[in-house]
Amino acid sequence: MTPLDGTHDRTGARSPLEPAAADFRDDAMAGLRSTPKRLSPKYFYDTEGSQLFDAICELPEYYVTRTELSILEAEAGAIASRLAAGGPCRVVEPGAGSGTKTRLLLRALGPERCVDYVPVDIAGEHLERTAVELRAELPWLRVTPFAADFSLELPLPGDRARARTVVYFPGSTIGNFDPADAERLLGRFREAAGPDGLVLLGVDLKKDPAELHAAYNDARGVTARFNKNVLRRMNVELGTDFDLDAFHHYAFYAPAHGRIEMHLVSVRRQEVRLGGEVFTFEDGESICTERSYKYDLATAERLGRSAGLALVDSWRDAERRFAVLLFRAPAPA
Ligand code: AVI
Repeated sequence: MTPLDGTHDRTGARSPLEPAAADFRDDAMAGLRSTPKRLSPKYFYDTEGSQLFDAICELPEYYVTRTELSILEAEAGAIASRLAAGGPCRVVEPGAGSGTKTRLLLRALGPERCVDYVPVDIAGEHLERTAVELRAELPWLRVTPFAADFSLELPLPGDRARARTVVYFPGSTIGNFDPADAERLLGRFREAAGPDGLVLLGVDLKKDPAELHAAYNDARGVTARFNKNVLRRMNVELGTDFDLDAFHHYAFYAPAHGRIEMHLVSVRRQEVRLGGEVFTFEDGESICTERSYKYDLATAERLGRSAGLALVDSWRDAERRFAVLLFRAPAPA
């Protein structure tokens, strides 16, 4: 792994870990072969998919983004004081990041309490653009981008005597990982944070299923377009022949699993070709494109504990829709 010393890839060049087209093809084929059919949600986010996701975040029904933001707006000062209670910190952010929430946090920390900001993302160019913007906006901030697939690799903690590492993972992205994968990911965050390091996590909370249903079935059909875009992407990048009109967006809340499931349902029996193989969809058969787990505080605390993290603080909005949780890694032995 590349240490946090500023020498890692800053060129915006493709990281060796960035999933290549071959990985996309392999994953898509494995997902189409499996029963039920599945596809990883990480493939939603090509340029068009990212734009559609940005549009989702603005939707009246999609409370997630603005609720988390409202918590940050109200509590950034308190959160920053907790993060830097023992001295200055460095903030490592897996995922695209560097949005409004991150800026609020970094501003609240300020130059005295934040020595370094390390955005981690597989899209090298996006990462470099983010770094340039942030350096212009917060000139006091040392920004050290790290190009990697955060689910596989994270930078190791730097000099702990100088600064404590805080892994910041907002957006309830943890909810898009199945429990065993979420535990593994949090374990990786714990390692990256190092002994006595911190993990600051945004999680979407369980609520009225009707509200959840509306958030993933918006009236304008943006979520449906976001969901279907992955088929368009496969047609363009993998040469599949999905008939986009022959699949319907279907999203529902499954209380027994505490998760939203997003599917694309075939409206008739049809065949799709990929890499010389023919995949049959029966009438009404679906491909699951995303799961989005919703937590309560006790379940989230248990998830953290199973990854070796102790919950030390939490902040919620007045309606208790969303929580920002602060976990600590064990102190050095
Ligand atoms: C990125 N992630 C947390 C979103 C979610 O709510 O699970 C993705 C999303 N899917 C449909 N709408 C938004």
